[in-house]
Amino acid sequence: MEQPTNRVFSGVQPTGNLHLGNYLGAIRNFVGLQETHECIYCVVDMHAITAWQDPKELAHNTREVAAAYIAAGVDADKQVIFNQSKVSAHAELTWILNCVARIGWLNRMTQFKEKAGKNRENASVGLYDYPVLMAADILAYRATHVPVGDDQKQHLELARDIAQKFNNDFAEFGGEDFFPQPEPLIMGAATRVMSLRDGSKKMSKSDPSDMSRITLTDTADDIAKKIRKARTDPEPLPSELDGLKDRPEADNLVGIYAALADVTKEAVLQEHGGSQFSSFKPALADLANERLSPITGEMARLMEDTTYIDSVLQKGSQRASAIAQPVVARVKEIVGFI
Ligand code: TRP
Repeated sequence: MEQPTNRVFSGVQPTGNLHLGNYLGAIRNFVGLQETHECIYCVVDMHAITAWQDPKELAHNTREVAAAYIAAGVDADKQVIFNQSKVSAHAELTWILNCVARIGWLNRMTQFKEKAGKNRENASVGLYDYPVLMAADILAYRATHVPVGDDQKQHLELARDIAQKFNNDFAEFGGEDFFPQPEPLIMGAATRVMSLRDGSKKMSKSDPSDMSRITLTDTADDIAKKIRKARTDPEPLPSELDGLKDRPEADNLVGIYAALADVTKEAVLQEHGGSQFSSFKPALADLANERLSPITGEMARLMEDTTYIDSVLQKGSQRASAIAQPVVARVKEIVGFI
């Protein structure tokens, strides 16, 4: 079976409120990887339902993530864009990998602990098993590289452990070296976008305050207003990076500016050091609109007629199946299914 050396797999959950953090931390990076890698970009609708989703919204949000990939610049003809539930290999491989992964490993997953919170008894079994589905996503394609943010690093390590244990458990049966170890691609420093209301919390889809995030469906006016109202401190911007210490809100806005302008935070401070927020914020709003409006505009256009998006997902899932199905067929053979 062919083993590519540069195959990227990544996914975004269609849980609505796609925001600036999703764009700068994930989707934007997907675009650059096309130059050097064969890329498979998934809309992970099966991960989304680990917490209840309104079915109508799920369908809308699934298309919206696909639209964001395309609008940001992923080439739907060259790369594979599809939604997870259309390719049965994900569910099938998850079951087999469930029997490889250990309960003790899953019990260490910090994201589950955070998401399940105090009411763990009432969390879905799917939420607990989420990292195994993610391992199946990656391993079904024998992907070699996975762009991940900080919060998914532990899940990727789990995928590596599962791959290794599968290879060991079935070494005598054709499993030796079957799954490659997927490598993380840690993206640039500016990937952590924090809430506009609280610089100590990540920008999040689920924050009850809409003012905490800039979404990819916001208008220019929305964006300007959210930045104008973003929480800050009364000091002017420092000229050196050191001066951002213990100023999480200032640090966040400078980080967003740097990421949007594609420069370092040092460079932003060189230009804007000494400025009051009353002048920095409008500059940031202009930049945000300049960078985001081509993407949000294209997304809105794509969402108006969903036949194109649906055809991309359809074609993508056929291409994804063509890659994943032989892998899963071989896995079934290795474990002894007839
Ligand atoms: N769990 C990831 C997230 O919420 C999404 C995801 C699902 C993913 N499967 C993946 C990311 C495989 C990378 C590779 O961000």
